[in-house]
Amino acid sequence: MVHALRGVSLTVHKGERFGIVGESGSGKSTLLRLLCALDKPTAGSIRFDGQEITGLPERRLRFLRHSLQIVFQDPMSSLNPRMRVRDLVAEPLVALGESVGGRVAELLDAVGLPAAAADRYPHQFSGGQRQRIAIARALAPRPKVLVADEPVSALDVSVRGQILNLMADLVDELGLTLVFVSHDLSVVRHVCETVAVMNDGEIVETGAIDDIWIEPSHPYTRALLQAVPTLEGLL
Ligand SMILES: Nc1ncnc2c1ncn2[C@@H]1O[C@H](COP(=O)(O)OP(=O)(O)O)[C@@H](O)[C@H]1O
Ligand SMILES: [Mg+2]
Repeated sequence: MVHALRGVSLTVHKGERFGIVGESGSGKSTLLRLLCALDKPTAGSIRFDGQEITGLPERRLRFLRHSLQIVFQDPMSSLNPRMRVRDLVAEPLVALGESVGGRVAELLDAVGLPAAAADRYPHQFSGGQRQRIAIARALAPRPKVLVADEPVSALDVSVRGQILNLMADLVDELGLTLVFVSHDLSVVRHVCETVAVMNDGEIVETGAIDDIWIEPSHPYTRALLQAVPTLEGLL
């Protein structure tokens, strides 16, 4: 049996930009899936806005589906290739039974895509543009919390900074709470103020990212830091 997570406890405050960092297999995606109620923990409790979400049936999770939206690593697999951008972006609204109105045009503009993008299909865009589409889609129902699982890891290094800046700007403008997962501490540092460091299913260190960057207290964090000389100059 694999224990993907053990004894994990964390609190994300309203308006906080909270990063989760750790190497591949450390349990980051599992933790996110639990936070988003896409999976059930074998034990423990998860609360959103004070309300217990663990074990709620899907029909009682509507408020969460509305308030919390996710951007995944690879937009090529998270976006249905047979749907036009217009429908992809509108889909979360339609699923929640809300009117679409002029929202697609508004969202495309917000993520820096031309209005004409609405009529095209995902394969007609670059990786960075596809992640912009995924971000527009996530923002459609006006969520309070944006969750991102390695959102720039599948992108060319040259466009990572642009997408990170876009996310940071949108989180700022819209007053969102951000939960952001990456295996790269320098990427997390670019968009988050707080970080939890995960190793082998456990959180080994939590705190202000600037403090941890300068003075990591756990040996695993020190090892992670030594492994990330890469992106600093490019971001
Ligand atoms: N559905 C699953 N069944 C069995 N093991 C899994 C499953 N999902 C993840 N794992 C295991 O749980 C651990 C954590 O995985 P994951 O949360 O995907 O890590 P990360 O996102 O940090 O790379 C890994 O050892 C992985 O192999
Ligand atoms: Mg993962």
